[in-house]
Amino acid sequence: MKISPGEYYSKNEWNLFKQEAAKYNTPFLLVNLDIVRRSYQELEEHFPFSDNYYAVKANPAPEIIQLLDSLGCCFDVASIYEMERVLSCGVVPEKISFGNTIKKLSDIQLAYKKGVRLFATDSEDDLRSIAAAAPGSRIYVRILTEGAASADWPLSRKFGCHPDMATDLLLLARELKLNPYGVSFHVGSQQRDVGTWDTAISITKYIFDNMSEQNIRLEMINLGGGLPANYISKTNPLEVYASEIKRYLEEDFGADMPRIIMEPGRALVGNAGVLVSEVVMVARKSRVAVDRWVFLDAGKFNGLAETWEECIKYPLVCEKADFACEDGILAGPTCDSQDVMYEDYRYRIPVNLCPGDRVYWLTAGAYTASYASVDFNGFPPLKTYFIGK
Ligand SMILES: Cc1ncc(COP(=O)(O)O)c(C=O)c1O
Repeated sequence: MKISPGEYYSKNEWNLFKQEAAKYNTPFLLVNLDIVRRSYQELEEHFPFSDNYYAVKANPAPEIIQLLDSLGCCFDVASIYEMERVLSCGVVPEKISFGNTIKKLSDIQLAYKKGVRLFATDSEDDLRSIAAAAPGSRIYVRILTEGAASADWPLSRKFGCHPDMATDLLLLARELKLNPYGVSFHVGSQQRDVGTWDTAISITKYIFDNMSEQNIRLEMINLGGGLPANYISKTNPLEVYASEIKRYLEEDFGADMPRIIMEPGRALVGNAGVLVSEVVMVARKSRVAVDRWVFLDAGKFNGLAETWEECIKYPLVCEKADFACEDGILAGPTCDSQDVMYEDYRYRIPVNLCPGDRVYWLTAGAYTASYASVDFNGFPPLKTYFIGK
């Protein structure tokens, strides 16, 4: 399959990426902040009924945090380190939600000291820690959801609890003098089936009803992440997600709509980045081997972690793409045999691609730089450069 940059970027955007990329040595990530701004505005336009909490883990660059803060976005943090980063960018603690259900007592203590008052939970241990270290805080309980089969990067199993346990936790929250505030879920990242929100919202409604029987009026639904970026496997456009999700909410909650929030990561920053790599060498494993191995200076350990099990299939643009192409296996630069990005899925690679030629990984703004190892095989973490403002 031949990929045309025009399917992903305007001509101007692509020319700007190429022009800026020429200034730097590979590998690196180049993020266009104007595209981040546009993605945020599109989310606001299509989901006017929701407040956005950017999932900082997708790309924690201060440039992105500051831009989103200036646009009115709030922040979902996974750790005290992300929290400190966000606060150091000038974000007020009232705009922060501590969205990780796995946290140390000392981390909760620090978050509370810094002014954070909104916490996710999915277990009694964590809830009791929050009660001890962050008295009176607002709590939302994360529930288990379906959706693993249709998400390119599933997040089920490890997080969330059964709806009945969510009810128990919300009751316990009241007993512990916390504020039982709402319910959250994550249907899986790069979720291609918008129907998965329908099921999750119905379960949420069941919990809301159970709670109101116990005289607890929950106030918030957190729809999580899962909205798509533009990779090879196509998804519905954002407006379809928005209109369907709105319909599910209205069907279940009608006029009694609680506050809605979302935690977009990929959908906000994915499209804004291009990861630029270079061919280190091209090899065949025997005189008669059909397979051609293309080794790049970027791999699973320095930016391309989401090629794990070939989950995310980035659109790739090679130099010399106008020449004849044949299938290739794409691998990274480290001495680790896991450092192979695509072997089952075969990209079409120009037959004359050679050391020094560049390979551009489009839609690479999310979960790339933040996933890079710090020193594996001595390779430094992936650098990020910015264009736009
Ligand atoms: C709690 C939480 N919220 C939001 C996100 C962002 O998800 P996405 O990038 O699919 O929007 C994640 C991703 O891992 C997450 O763990």
